[in-house]
Amino acid sequence: MPDPLTPYGNKPMVTPIVNAVNYHYGSFEVLRKITDGEIDGYTYHRDDNPTVRVVEKQIAAMEKAEDCIICTSGMAACTLVYFTFLKAGDHLILFHDIYGAHYKVSLALERFGVEVTWINANDADRIEEHIRPETSMIFCETPSNPLCKIIDIRALASVAGRHSVRLVVDNTFATPYHQHPLDLGADLVVHSATKALGGHNDLMAGAIAGNKDDYDKLWFSRQAFGMTLDAYSASLLERGLKTFPLRAERMAENAQAIAGFLAKHPKIENLRYPGWTDDQGHAVAASQMSNGFGGMMAFDVGGTIEDARKFIAKLKRVYHAVSLGSTESLICIPYLTTMLYMPPERRATFGVRENTVRLSVGIEPEKVLIDDLADALQW
Ligand SMILES: Cc1ncc(COP(=O)(O)O)c(C=O)c1O
Repeated sequence: MPDPLTPYGNKPMVTPIVNAVNYHYGSFEVLRKITDGEIDGYTYHRDDNPTVRVVEKQIAAMEKAEDCIICTSGMAACTLVYFTFLKAGDHLILFHDIYGAHYKVSLALERFGVEVTWINANDADRIEEHIRPETSMIFCETPSNPLCKIIDIRALASVAGRHSVRLVVDNTFATPYHQHPLDLGADLVVHSATKALGGHNDLMAGAIAGNKDDYDKLWFSRQAFGMTLDAYSASLLERGLKTFPLRAERMAENAQAIAGFLAKHPKIENLRYPGWTDDQGHAVAASQMSNGFGGMMAFDVGGTIEDARKFIAKLKRVYHAVSLGSTESLICIPYLTTMLYMPPERRATFGVRENTVRLSVGIEPEKVLIDDLADALQW
């Protein structure tokens, strides 16, 4: 019987969604070749899935990596990295300025005997003071969530390399449209593919890109931990990737224009956008990012949390929601969302105030967004 998917050799324009949990083998010889790693083949969804594999290859190419592992969310990807490469007795250096859920994961790591040191992104150039013989990993975000602080990846990679410490960079805010951490010396890149790579607020996924050896280790843990993405979400992600460069270009153009508007507005303070020339991270950002500076920014509104709330409540085209990198513009108060679970003294260490808002710029027409922000700032 001809293959129903390609009866006359015509191929589908999109990767088919393979929902199979398991695969029946052509022969024992094929089973042996698959399990010995001689051929790429599929046996069980938790091990691998063809729809997922196609998207992994696409993201690997975008990140200029040898390979890529996709899993069920951005935090699943980060957790997979920690639990694959760290062991009891190791020392991990984290930046305060990273996505809030890392704090919760760090509590689990400490229970398993990993010692964690938190440092501020502004002190990245003094990181060597914190490195010890047991230090085995540095994990950073640049631009960071939520304050868009910039870390010099080349400088960090050179320190990490001198001490044989693995450098992991979360590239979610920058996206591979603007930044290639592996080219700059990082060992692994992670993504919340839920954000700009997917881009439509309709899927959760995470990605880790790196060399073949690390891919093999991550693959081994992913299948054991059960973090493999489902084929439907992988298909949505593949669709997102088709328009990703167009969306990323538009977001960055919109964000640059919005930053120009906000920088001059009397009710706005502490604007953080790496493309704004007065931003403290601009020079480093310009040296390691290209094609613009992404769609993420943070700024303080008025003087109190009430001012920030009032501003957000008045917005009509920018949605009050968490997450980022989507077609629609999204805004939130980190103090009330991603940083809610942090002890107040930790929040205070890295500069997020009660009236700080994080804006993820979408692909709407620039004028629509600037008019909406301008109207909402009138009181
Ligand atoms: C920079 C960054 N990394 C990782 C994550 C976690 O991603 P996910 O929500 O897909 O688990 C987020 C979520 O907002 C994020 O902003």
